[in-house]
Amino acid sequence: LEDWMQSQEYNLPSKEPIILGFSQLGTESAWRIANSTSIQDAAKESGITLIIKNAEQSQTKQFEAVRSFIKQKVDVIAIAPVVESGWDDILQEAKQAGIPVIIVDRSVDAQDTSLFVTTIGSDFYEEGVKAGKYIQDRLRNMPGTIRVAELQGTSGSTPSIQRGEGFRSILGDKDHILFSQSAPADFTEDKGRQVMEGFLQVGEEERPQVLFAHNDEMAFGAIRAIQDAGLKPGEDIIIVSVDGSRKALQILADGQINAVVECNPLLGPQLMQATKEIMAGRTLPKRMVPREDIFTQESAKREMLNRKF
Ligand code: AHR
Repeated sequence: LEDWMQSQEYNLPSKEPIILGFSQLGTESAWRIANSTSIQDAAKESGITLIIKNAEQSQTKQFEAVRSFIKQKVDVIAIAPVVESGWDDILQEAKQAGIPVIIVDRSVDAQDTSLFVTTIGSDFYEEGVKAGKYIQDRLRNMPGTIRVAELQGTSGSTPSIQRGEGFRSILGDKDHILFSQSAPADFTEDKGRQVMEGFLQVGEEERPQVLFAHNDEMAFGAIRAIQDAGLKPGEDIIIVSVDGSRKALQILADGQINAVVECNPLLGPQLMQATKEIMAGRTLPKRMVPREDIFTQESAKREMLNRKF
């Protein structure tokens, strides 16, 4: 029972329309833009008034947004947290104001899980596992020690932590796999390019043969760095990324990326549903996870046109 939240604990006035305050963490990727658009569209469709604030990667700005939502007496607060830690006090403030909180996309590591109603978002650990299994399979017949590099996302963010852990759960104990280089590149294309350039400033004997980029944008940046170094992305360096934007699937189909693990940004309908359930006084599961897949070069050709971002 501890894992379930009775929404009856909150102020639930029966006024219409419901007002939802949403603190979005930034605009760093196509995934993020699609996530914001999905939430805006779903709010419109379901008649919920949405107040959305962009925190531009700053947790402090997210605190300010939450405080402004409390001041405005919104009905429900949703937060896509930039990093996992440091949320206890602000969540406590929302609780004291009687406003239920939904965590969207990434997670918070608050000890007291009664501080939020539910988390709606991907299983990032499983995404890392999928990337690891693809690489394991792909390397089956490759002799010798294989050097694997990793472009991590924002330090301290759930997807960066968990994708890394899931990936290592498959490859970390393999004697022929060497995690040769690993550094954060903030989920952005420019930083991905810059960090990859650094990874390539070594002799051929030390150069990575595999790259796990924690999102598509960093893979795009890395591809440019690899080409600038006179190498062929997808051939000289095997690349796996995460998200699955249309652009990434196109590049995958063209052979410069080798596999893309899906991460679904279209969380708007689920968020609006959860908001309505809470306002109706219903109980929600503590965690809601969308179904996700992995795209290969073959499936990318099929799926490309269906992608919504
Ligand atoms: O939290 C989800 C991640 O954040 C996406 O994989 C990435 O593209 C975004 O910036």
